[in-house]
Amino acid sequence: MGAVFLAVFSWGDDGQVLAKGPANPGHGALECADCHDSAPGTVRQQVQAAVAFGLGLRETAPAIGRLPVTNRICLDCHEREEDHHPTHVFTQPKYADEREEIAAHLCITCHREHSGRHVENTGQFCATCHSGMEVREDRTTPTHAALAAEERWDTCLRCHDFHGNHHHEWPESLEEAFGGREVLRHLDSGTPMYGEKREPARTSRDR
Ligand code: HEC
Ligand code: HEC
Ligand code: HEC
Ligand code: HEC
Ligand code: HEC
Repeated sequence: MGAVFLAVFSWGDDGQVLAKGPANPGHGALECADCHDSAPGTVRQQVQAAVAFGLGLRETAPAIGRLPVTNRICLDCHEREEDHHPTHVFTQPKYADEREEIAAHLCITCHREHSGRHVENTGQFCATCHSGMEVREDRTTPTHAALAAEERWDTCLRCHDFHGNHHHEWPESLEEAFGGREVLRHLDSGTPMYGEKREPARTSRDR
């Protein structure tokens, strides 16, 4: 029989020392426990369960220490009535190919925590799902068809916010749009850009 290896994750009170990196913009005042739920049972029970799993006496590996940070945890504070891109939509089988390119069904694809960044990428992933877009009676200059043909995916966030959670009118020409650098700064540091939010975040997961 092979040896049973256990990695017990220990979390002291001096959380910041153990954190992987700086809090993301807006999260500085959160407690570790706001996102990291303890696994059920004491550490001793979890270790016993892990040993049982290692010996084949248990079918599933138990969570040791802390549970994974799921969308649900984020949504407890960030659920919004009218998200233009709700994560649950992209769990559907028809988005399997898109998920390979950008896992838009997971918050932490674009908002990896402990990075100090607002958004992890440059926001040009719109191409994955909108390359064939058709906007009827398009009033925008250049038109969406022209932007897609020229692969100008750097322009999308200059007019649109991704979640549609701002009182923000989409401009009709690139001249009135935000600058490309402003978008990159926003994605990096979270500097406010699109204006007032429709629904601010909750500060606690208790409802
Ligand atoms: C806003 C939610 C949030 C808060 C608050 C938060 N974390 Fe995290 N943490 C995450 C997410 C999400 C991950 C998963 C890895 C990733 O996305 O980078 C993670 C991963 C970790 C990991 C690595 C665990 C692993 O399995 O890789 C450690 C250690 C950690 N966090 C410690 C802390 C500590 C200590 C605090 C408090 C100072 C804290 N975190 C606060 C969301 C959070
Ligand atoms: C306990 C509540 C809570 C949890 C859990 C939480 N957040 Fe937040 N988050 C906040 C608050 C409060 C802010 C501050 C900005 C605001 O009020 O909108 C914030 C800010 C943000 C911002 C930046 C918003 C901005 O205006 O620049 C992003 C992105 C974000 N959270 C994503 C996440 C993700 C992804 C998770 C899960 C890994 C998560 N949050 C978990 C409360 C929470
Ligand atoms: C495919 C990438 C992507 C995914 C997945 C994603 N976001 Fe975002 N998110 C962005 C981008 C880009 C922005 C900046 C533009 C904007 O403000 O809408 C943003 C902005 C935000 C903001 C600040 C604006 C606001 O709406 O208050 C919050 C909070 C946020 N995201 C939370 C989440 C949560 C929670 C999830 C999962 C349920 C999630 N995001 C999933 C790309 C993503
Ligand atoms: C994983 C696939 C996916 C990605 C990536 C994606 N979208 Fe979407 N988007 C959708 C779907 C699905 C809809 C809903 C379409 C519908 O209602 O017919 C949508 C709707 C929209 C809408 C219309 C919202 C409304 O309700 O009027 C805009 C604007 C938009 N997306 C912009 C963007 C931008 C900008 C990006 C990149 C930052 C992006 N999308 C990335 C799938 C995606
Ligand atoms: C100059 C500003 C601007 C730019 C750049 C822009 N859009 Fe738009 N977009 C708009 C406006 C305005 C509308 C509303 C169109 C209308 O109703 O005539 C719109 C509508 C949309 C819609 C909804 C279409 C529908 O059927 O309602 C989607 C999806 C969309 N844009 C995606 C994108 C993507 C992806 C990009 C990046 C290539 C992009 N947009 C670039 C301004 C812009």
